[in-house]
Amino acid sequence: MSTDEPTGLKRGLTNYGDFDFSLYLRRSFAGSMGYSKAMLERPVIGIANSASGLNNCHRHFPELIEAVKRGVLAAGGLPLDFPTISLGEVYLSPTSMMYRNLMAIDTEEMVRAQPLDAVVLVGGCDKTVPAQLMGAVSANVPAVQLLAGPMMAMRFEGERLGACTDCRRFWGQYRAGTIDKPRIQSIEGNLAVTAGTCAVMGTASTMACIAETLGMALPGSAAIPAVHADRLRAAEASGALAMQLARTKLTPDRIVTEKSVENALRMLLAVGGSTNAIIHLTAIAGRRGIDISLKRLNELSDSTPVLVDLKPTGQFYMEDFHAAGGVGAVLRELKPLLHLDCMSVTGETLGERLARPAGYVDRNVIRSHGEPFLPYGGLVALFGSLAPDGAILKRSAANPKLFETEGRAVVFSSLEDLSQRIDDPNLDVTPQDFMVLQNAGPKSGSGMPEAGYLPIPSKLARAGLKDMVRISDARMSGTAFGTIVLHVAPEAATGGPLGLVRNGDRIRLSVRDRRIDLLVAEDELGRRRATLPPRPPGPARGYRKLYDDHVLQADKGCDFDFLRATRGIF
Ligand code: FES
Repeated sequence: MSTDEPTGLKRGLTNYGDFDFSLYLRRSFAGSMGYSKAMLERPVIGIANSASGLNNCHRHFPELIEAVKRGVLAAGGLPLDFPTISLGEVYLSPTSMMYRNLMAIDTEEMVRAQPLDAVVLVGGCDKTVPAQLMGAVSANVPAVQLLAGPMMAMRFEGERLGACTDCRRFWGQYRAGTIDKPRIQSIEGNLAVTAGTCAVMGTASTMACIAETLGMALPGSAAIPAVHADRLRAAEASGALAMQLARTKLTPDRIVTEKSVENALRMLLAVGGSTNAIIHLTAIAGRRGIDISLKRLNELSDSTPVLVDLKPTGQFYMEDFHAAGGVGAVLRELKPLLHLDCMSVTGETLGERLARPAGYVDRNVIRSHGEPFLPYGGLVALFGSLAPDGAILKRSAANPKLFETEGRAVVFSSLEDLSQRIDDPNLDVTPQDFMVLQNAGPKSGSGMPEAGYLPIPSKLARAGLKDMVRISDARMSGTAFGTIVLHVAPEAATGGPLGLVRNGDRIRLSVRDRRIDLLVAEDELGRRRATLPPRPPGPARGYRKLYDDHVLQADKGCDFDFLRATRGIF
């Protein structure tokens, strides 16, 4: 970038056919907000604000944004916040995933179209951070991610509760009949009690760790609890850092690289992170033309140990992870495996960060590389005749006794079919069966919801069954657990083999061989394929049409085809 490029309000003038008039008009209107002329001469730091009355995880954003502004003002800039779409995970139908790309477009276009020298992206709830990073990478304006931070866990009758692994644990007990309605209602009021994102290593926390590892967020900021004073200090520091970025013009394309993406994959594996994060990281990398191969994921998984003991795979909460040393402590243990020359928003490399003296580490929560919780990574990709383009299993949250098994398929053809029959006392299902859910992928009309965590049929749950193999083209909440094969690609709705499975078919799972196979002869599959009904017409208009026309499969991050950059293969 040339040094005489316009800055502040002189950037990107509205086109009235006379640029001097455009600047005169803009200053005049900006002045109507009460700013002095001196303030209007300052660099402009945008603050992408994803607060919403329909997003409890972001309810502390007004205070957080005041702190960002303080940091910007003290560093000599003019902070101007602007609203973007917010995606409150539990408030969107059919699923927030359908709207991640809409928020990414909103963020990209507002960051690009407005006169911003740099931007602070303020997000947290599951899809918001991926959307903001996708947008910022595509806009390629200097940007720093400020994370919401996790909720605090709640003390309740002698134990601690936190959204949302405990939500699922108690709901499973309620379905199994071991707790009653008054009990589940009293628990309901104690699962999510502060501002911030889910209290475990779910999708939001995993994406926070990934944002910091990529180099897009302040070192040490991923795990600070939402209500901790350090979170406000991180916000103030992010504002000041945005001013530094405006001066140095350090853009996301120099931070999000093949090497930093690989570092982020290592972090995802080492924290036993959410399966959703592989989709989101693939989409973020795709905005730079970087392809994440699931075969490469397996190579990294074989050499990256799980180092943290957090729910849903372990016992601790994000507040414990922060107190134990957070992302910095994990990075230090992974150091021999990382690319240390990766640049971060601070202007220092990862190697320079890790050369500083190590802080306190609680080894109950974050293990050393030599004594990991698991010797291999949390996620593994499976391939085979059932998933030619791949599927994902979170092996750190699964039952190893089911890893080398063959079972009889019990098929649900849709989400509606699942909800109608799962608790039917006459359902023909045994603990050894593999439950298969079809038509819940990106193009199914349901937007690939977090429905892959199929409930254990109530008659088996009441008999004490806790886990069985479940397979689908859906996703799973990062807070869930079980032997659950997800993201099967290609999906059933686009003619993938998953849609050809019938009740009674045999399926073989082999985590050792990284395979998931439908044991049905090809000529029989051909006959079934020939009788498949044509795909029903998609939505006729609006965003849903755009989504249906352009969304890619899970192995491509479910981004829109026209939003990915084209460059190389990683
Ligand atoms: Fe917002 Fe879990 S519901 S992070």
